[in-house]
Amino acid sequence: MAVGDPSGWPTLNFLLLAVAVSFLGSALSIDEVRTHLLMKEKMMRLGGQLVLNTQEEQANEKLMAIKIAEMTKAMKTLVFPPSMHFFRAKRLIEKSQVFNILRMMPKGAALHLHDFGIVSMDWLVKNVTYRPHCHICFTPRGTVQFKFADPTPATLMTEDCSKWILLEDYRKQVQNVTEFDNSLLRNFTLTTQDPEVTYLDQNVVWAKFETIFFTISGLVHYAPVFRDYILRSLEEFYKDNVLYLEVRAMLQPVYELNGEIHDKDWSVKTYKDVAQMFVQTHPEFIGIKIIYSDHRSKDVSLIKESIRTAMDLRTKFPNMVAGFDLVGHEDTGHSLFDYKEALMIPVKQGVKLPYFFHAGETDWHGTSIDKNLLDAVILNTTRIGHGFALSKHPAIRAFSQKKDIPIEVCPISNQVLKLVSDLRNHPVATLMAIGQPMVISSDDPAVFGARGLSYDFYEAFMGIGGMKADLRTLKQLAMNSIRYSVLSEDKKTALMETWEKRWKKFIADVVTQ
Ligand SMILES: *[C@@H]1O[C@H](CO)[C@@H](O)[C@H](O)[C@H]1NC(C)=O
Ligand SMILES: *[C@@H]1O[C@H](CO)[C@@H](O)[C@H](O)[C@H]1NC(C)=O
Ligand SMILES: *[C@@H]1O[C@H](CO)[C@@H](O)[C@H](O)[C@H]1NC(C)=O
Ligand SMILES: *[C@@H]1O[C@H](CO)[C@@H](O)[C@H](O)[C@H]1NC(C)=O
Ligand SMILES: [Zn+2]
Repeated sequence: MAVGDPSGWPTLNFLLLAVAVSFLGSALSIDEVRTHLLMKEKMMRLGGQLVLNTQEEQANEKLMAIKIAEMTKAMKTLVFPPSMHFFRAKRLIEKSQVFNILRMMPKGAALHLHDFGIVSMDWLVKNVTYRPHCHICFTPRGTVQFKFADPTPATLMTEDCSKWILLEDYRKQVQNVTEFDNSLLRNFTLTTQDPEVTYLDQNVVWAKFETIFFTISGLVHYAPVFRDYILRSLEEFYKDNVLYLEVRAMLQPVYELNGEIHDKDWSVKTYKDVAQMFVQTHPEFIGIKIIYSDHRSKDVSLIKESIRTAMDLRTKFPNMVAGFDLVGHEDTGHSLFDYKEALMIPVKQGVKLPYFFHAGETDWHGTSIDKNLLDAVILNTTRIGHGFALSKHPAIRAFSQKKDIPIEVCPISNQVLKLVSDLRNHPVATLMAIGQPMVISSDDPAVFGARGLSYDFYEAFMGIGGMKADLRTLKQLAMNSIRYSVLSEDKKTALMETWEKRWKKFIADVVTQ
């Protein structure tokens, strides 16, 4: 019986009813009813339908023994990383044996990432800002900006900045370079010792979040850095046992030292070239696709243009550009409904432009913002970015399950951006318990001080999944990431085969270690 399959629901309800009726009629003992209901819940859970082979069962026993030991200890000490802010939990997570197993685990694909939130910010400070011709300027608000140029660029009257200073010269005159580099790093991440005090509300944390992307813009859009950034994105995820990425990219202008500016085609082509080069040296890696994205603060006329750009890019690079999305703080931005006229352009023109909308990344239940979930599925979104609010909408939830539209769950992002503080209370717990289609991703791991997917898998497995989520849940999540990718069928098959090979090795390692 396929409980995960919507057609299985009536059967399930019928069975539950039958159990209840026989219980009332005393045909079944209390113990039998208990066992029966527990079995039902086990079957309904994400991955509950998977049948493990003997070796996987052995690995599962080992994994669960470790997990249960860690959770049981946490129940005594009340020190439980998923219940704490990630900035404080990170070090504890790194000590967890479960986390180390998750790092070894082949996780499939990462389907919800943003172009410049991927590579550890350390690298921007230690490598990129040390490159020749890097200039810095200081704004009155205490933030910084960067520009590569030769000779030193003149400061325009319009720029809200001090004059441009060659960073090499500036470093010579600062008292303590380590201290200065640490201050840059603080400009590049949200990490802080006291997040509850630093970020009093969602607007404060979002303001800093968006400022970070503005700050690093001059670094990452310098052509040689742009290329290296893509390469390092692939490296960091490959090291974390991820074999394929779908990245939301805004494709802003990339510049050369002499001031030459490249267009969007150049950027897409660079993504393609770098990924192809990477695949040559890492043959098991499948590649990268771009979801062209624009900011939801813009008005509808600009978004109309972006939709046309997206259609154009998809025509030119059908294997690279997967579709379109809108990014930025949902609570303060335009709703999908506001953009209806723009978002209907492709279908009116008979052009296929798949959507990958962020939707329901909000705590404001029942508002127009929250309706983004509704409009996302009406606009045939391929997946839902976050879907944090989905469990509050039974009809849309059921509809998306029926249509097999997965949500992309990013636990650490949701916590750092203040949608939920204790990840045991993440609303996706309910959806995991009923096998809703979903994948786990990390959104902007570098901005949150995380890396790859493993930290988010840890939070999902330990915090959201609770004590009962086991190897089946993990296997389902990894397989979902391949299934819900937009790879062509043959590439999907290839990725699944590579993943299975790695999975077998992982299982063997868990059993023998
Ligand atoms: C930055 O890293 C690249 C390799 O990725 C290396 O060739 C280069 O020398 C490094 N630059 C600095 C300033 O560390
Ligand atoms: C420079 O700052 C770092 C970090 O705060 C500190 O560990 C180091 O001792 C300082 N070095 C000097 C020479 O003051
Ligand atoms: C950002 O860097 C500047 C320059 O070092 C520094 O003055 C400022 O305090 C930094 N901002 C943060 C949040 O650390
Ligand atoms: C969504 O899909 C339905 C059914 O295929 C189609 O009729 C409708 O036009 C699509 N809407 C958009 C906006 O793509
Ligand atoms: Zn996102």
